[in-house]
Amino acid sequence: MAEFEIRDRGLVDEGVNRVEWAGREMPVLLSIRERFAQSHPFAGLRLGGCLHVTSETANLALALQAGGAEVFLCASNPLSTNDAVAAALAVKYGIHVHAVRGEDRDAYYRHLEAVLSARPSVLLDDGADLISQAHRRDEAFCREVFGGTEETTTGVIRFRNLAREGRLRFPIVAVNEADTKHLFDNRYGTGQSTIDGLLRATNLLLAGRKVVVAGYGWCSRGIAQRARGLGAIVAVTEIEPVRALEALMDGFLVMPSLEAARFGDVFITATGNRSIFRAEHFRVMKSGAILANSGHFDVEIDIPALAGLSRARRLIRDQVEEFELSDGRRLYLLAQGRLLNLAAAEGHPSAVMDMSFANQALSAEHLVKNRGRIKPGLYPVPEEIDREVARLKLAASGVEIDRLTPDQEKYLSSWQEGT
Ligand code: ADE
Repeated sequence: MAEFEIRDRGLVDEGVNRVEWAGREMPVLLSIRERFAQSHPFAGLRLGGCLHVTSETANLALALQAGGAEVFLCASNPLSTNDAVAAALAVKYGIHVHAVRGEDRDAYYRHLEAVLSARPSVLLDDGADLISQAHRRDEAFCREVFGGTEETTTGVIRFRNLAREGRLRFPIVAVNEADTKHLFDNRYGTGQSTIDGLLRATNLLLAGRKVVVAGYGWCSRGIAQRARGLGAIVAVTEIEPVRALEALMDGFLVMPSLEAARFGDVFITATGNRSIFRAEHFRVMKSGAILANSGHFDVEIDIPALAGLSRARRLIRDQVEEFELSDGRRLYLLAQGRLLNLAAAEGHPSAVMDMSFANQALSAEHLVKNRGRIKPGLYPVPEEIDREVARLKLAASGVEIDRLTPDQEKYLSSWQEGT
């Protein structure tokens, strides 16, 4: 019997339907689950996850469980938990879930601690909170951890900093850096699910609307592309010259954020940094402007500054808060500045999470197989795993590709032939 803290166990049937529906779109993870069920790579082990508790994550948890693991799960964001899925995981599938949508900061950290208290051998993280908490415990705790995995750009940045300071206590696989993760999940997943969140929260017509996308990393690229696809006039802000040039040559307007603040009707951040839109921007934005964030943390829009400039605020509809500034203009903040795609929609579609979570599952297996042999540090997903995920996804999509002929292989490995 699983130990759990969830909103409502009565939601179990709805949750099971959701998990099964997502599973239909996750053939790669399913094939890994079937293999795990034969080989039991995690037999007798406890695995801990701090991930968005969605129907896709549920399918990952089931794959790990099929591999013999006892799985402990908490949420990686207070607003991303699907309570029905949490109920299904806890009541039907025997996963130890500690997650309630809308949980406060104390509950969030209590749930992280509940997962760590199980002394998991592998920690699967999304945003670095679980592994950071593990590093705040004593060294003996970390010595028992074989390793960790990190799902997202923000988490990878944090672990890079921890590694640079020489303070990482176990190996961490940067799942986000796998090609079969960020090229698909960050770009197509965030692109589609952010627009989904924007539309569900506001029911806005995007055609002809001026949308400002902050950043031009893989996530922002996806958002910019999809907003353009719906007819928006898209401007990009960047601090990195090569990315800014790419955005320009991809056909977007590129401008400094203060100019963009005057230009935009809708502002979407996905930079991984803080205070992208702040008092100086709010002071010049048009009345009616909409502010949303799709980065991991709720720091990209300076909400305290927005509140400081406001004489009143009220919830005007689900996920839309109106800030009335002292000069009478009104700005609208979506989903409390938390990641829009999970807070106002359902996160990335299952078909892309299939690849991200296949990388998670195979990276966890890699850490267990190589326990004690990998020094503390931040590592890429092994290339064989990345290629294998792509091969499996192509096969599941019914797509075949060519192989090099022996003559071509020889040509590519030689230098003699020229003009
Ligand atoms: N991150 C983004 N979308 C997600 C989803 N659907 N499930 C889990 N993590 C996610």
